Amino acid sequence: MSLEQRIAQLEAEVSGAQAANADEAERLRIALLGRNGSITALFDDFKQVPPEEKRAFGQRLNQLKQAAQARVDELKQAASNGSASSGPQVDVSAPASTAHNGSLHPITIVRQRIVEVFARIGYTVSQGPEVEDDHHNFSALNFPPDHPARDMQDTFFVRSNNGGDGPAGQAGGVEGLALRTHTSSVQVRVMESGKPPFRTISPGRVYRNEAISARAHCMFHQVEALYVDEGVSFAELKGTLDYFTKSLFGPEVSIRLRPSYFPFTEPSAEVDMSCTICGGPGCNVCKHSGWVEIMGCGMVDPAVLANCGIDPQRYSGFALGMGVERIAQLLYRVPDLRLYWENDVRFLDQFAAGTFRG
Ligand code: DAH
Repeated sequence: MSLEQRIAQLEAEVSGAQAANADEAERLRIALLGRNGSITALFDDFKQVPPEEKRAFGQRLNQLKQAAQARVDELKQAASNGSASSGPQVDVSAPASTAHNGSLHPITIVRQRIVEVFARIGYTVSQGPEVEDDHHNFSALNFPPDHPARDMQDTFFVRSNNGGDGPAGQAGGVEGLALRTHTSSVQVRVMESGKPPFRTISPGRVYRNEAISARAHCMFHQVEALYVDEGVSFAELKGTLDYFTKSLFGPEVSIRLRPSYFPFTEPSAEVDMSCTICGGPGCNVCKHSGWVEIMGCGMVDPAVLANCGIDPQRYSGFALGMGVERIAQLLYRVPDLRLYWENDVRFLDQFAAGTFRG
């Protein structure tokens, strides 16, 4: 067989070559291009080609060699794709697993909604530290030195280096530092750092030494509101409460005020809202009264204004404070506070944008 014929035959062989798997493709490569391969052998014979034909034959031989290599690569590639699908079977007709949508935590959603409602009537947002001193958390707010809220049972005092914890001035207590027990401390910071009018709300975490149960937690969230200006009246407080509750819960809810006591407001009141769960006739949440307590409020005590350097003769104001978890419980009908802390995605998923059906 002439060299010409052998090249033609090998060209046909290469273009029609098949391999069932990678091993066969490799055997093909060795048979064609290995040290003793048939294409390699042609290069030896090429030496005998007369010089005037060398150029043409050389080109064909090189092309053949490249075509053979390309065909072997192709077969190896096909074999490796094939082996992937011959491994674990993928059912391409199975329904895709649903994408997991992240969501804001319900407490964040409720806090944002509260901020939004107050922002519409001109309230700014202010913040204070969570590790607070006795002055801002208690003294300036008129808590007498022996008030039970200062007791170790209620307040987490900050531990000093020498061990033990306790109220300021007692063994182990860092001079006056504690985790704030309410966001009313921010009222004091706001009033001390500027001039009236003040119209601000302070959302944030607060801490109390409580046993954890469905109804109580040692860390929770509050939103405080403060409005101080000349001639602020109790009627404005009532109007604000009515606006707030209707904006958040709907126009059908009503409120009532019960006289109460807080050291920093005079007069003080507790705000009840008509029960959003049963709508009035009574249920477990409202303890069959038709009303649920949602916050404390009152006119800022003149002594507190004076403590913060504000002239109580000229200015008056109101303040209110609510628990965000409580509001969330009523909005979402979630009975157990602990659900807000467990971060079970099956719970949190329900709050992904627009999917919650309360
Ligand atoms: N600080 C109170 C608490 O933690 C809530 C509160 C009551 C805040 C009356 C106020 C207020 O501003 O006027 O229970």
